[in-house]
Amino acid sequence: MLNKIKRKIYTKVKAPIVDALKTAYHNPTYQFHIPGHTKGLGTLPDFRNLVGKKALMVDTTDEFDNLGTLTPATGPIKEAEELAAQAFGAKKTFFLLNGSTVGNLAIAMGLTRKGQKVIVNRNCHRSILTGLIISGADPLWVIPNKLENWGIWGNIDAASVEELLAANDDVSMVWITNPTYEGVVSDIASIAKVCKKYNVPLIVDEAHGCLWNFNEKLPTTSLKLGADIVVHSLHKTGGSMSQSSMLHIAEDSTISAEDVERALMLLHTTSPSLMLLGSLDAARANLQSERGQKQLSRAIANAKYLRSEIDKMETIHQLKADFGFKTDITKVFIKADGLSGKRLEYILEADFGIEVESASDEGILILCNIGNKRSDFEYLVKCLKKIDESKYQDIYYLENKKHMPMLTPIIKKSLRDAYFSEKEIIPKEQAVGRLSGEVVAECPPGISILLPGELITEAHLPYLADYDVIEVLK
Ligand SMILES: Cc1ncc(COP(=O)(O)O)c(C=O)c1O
Repeated sequence: MLNKIKRKIYTKVKAPIVDALKTAYHNPTYQFHIPGHTKGLGTLPDFRNLVGKKALMVDTTDEFDNLGTLTPATGPIKEAEELAAQAFGAKKTFFLLNGSTVGNLAIAMGLTRKGQKVIVNRNCHRSILTGLIISGADPLWVIPNKLENWGIWGNIDAASVEELLAANDDVSMVWITNPTYEGVVSDIASIAKVCKKYNVPLIVDEAHGCLWNFNEKLPTTSLKLGADIVVHSLHKTGGSMSQSSMLHIAEDSTISAEDVERALMLLHTTSPSLMLLGSLDAARANLQSERGQKQLSRAIANAKYLRSEIDKMETIHQLKADFGFKTDITKVFIKADGLSGKRLEYILEADFGIEVESASDEGILILCNIGNKRSDFEYLVKCLKKIDESKYQDIYYLENKKHMPMLTPIIKKSLRDAYFSEKEIIPKEQAVGRLSGEVVAECPPGISILLPGELITEAHLPYLADYDVIEVLK
């Protein structure tokens, strides 16, 4: 008797760009247009074999084959953006190429002006600062709590935001990063309440929180907590391809979507990759599907398993929710006694073939992704147990570089003015006492060490170990 293969039939969720690409793929035309690789024939065969013929056949832009256009959104792209807005609980969603970076640039360029003040957390991603350099708005820094024992930034207090709003009557918006890279969650509802009191829009860079609206065990998305605009890097944890992100405008926001769209039109490529746009459509549809829901539940269950196993270890510790802040369970920040974060990362990679999301001075960040299997975590736990039992004590003294900038800036000149001032490049040893001419913010996490116009002090030097020279103002 034939073995019956049990196959689960999942309800199909609509994915208009994916459908349009399928139609284009099955109805090939004689191609006399870009991209000039012409369905993959005009490239290196090695590359074509590596990525697959099909991938190159659907590598097209928005000018052909009834696939719609990105700006303004038309056809299947418009439909896909509308479906995404519904799924994320937004009034309007824009698909982004060049990541959340371009979303942050467009927010700054579309909604702020030269000389306006923007309250922004110091540990924001450098794309926000690039945006402010473009627009000429000045950051008013809100300094988050510091989790000193973990060597990372913590949550942002609503009271710190209110203090700045009360002291400055010309703030054009509040721009908060939530969660942090390591998964620390701020009380956005309270921050939104403060912003409403002062009638100032709230923008939340939720680059690392795009899964939140798809499972109630995860923190609540800022779109439901009073933010006006939220940016999501779907490619980070949502399952889309690298560089693809979304920008959402909240249901009851009075912010002009047209202002954001105009800026996006100027900043975006004029040859958007349908492959990337299709991957955004697919990621949203997957998260809404029964299959995606299961994957997300599994990711949460895997995170719980990993966390409970770490709790049994003697020398390995994990960051947990604390009084004042919550955490995203799927982002597991751990540290090991006797090892720096970089050293722990190295051991996992060299001895066990494990690559983690990132490492900083104290610890490493492990992401529990929707694509991971339970066996991945069983292996990780086995390796962590070995490290736990080995009681490493060696390496701290070898570290001469610091990785997580947590300094309070000394600002001597406005960001944009400094960026466009005359500069010179000098040896790092001569830099103390000079004003930085460049954005120094290594990725990950893309948090700034120095910005144009900030005083360089001795405290910066350990973060600049890889720099021989530095650009300073003349
Ligand atoms: C908080 C935050 N915002 C924005 C970005 C930029 O995102 P993308 O890589 O999608 O351009 C990053 C990237 O690491 C980030 O960590």
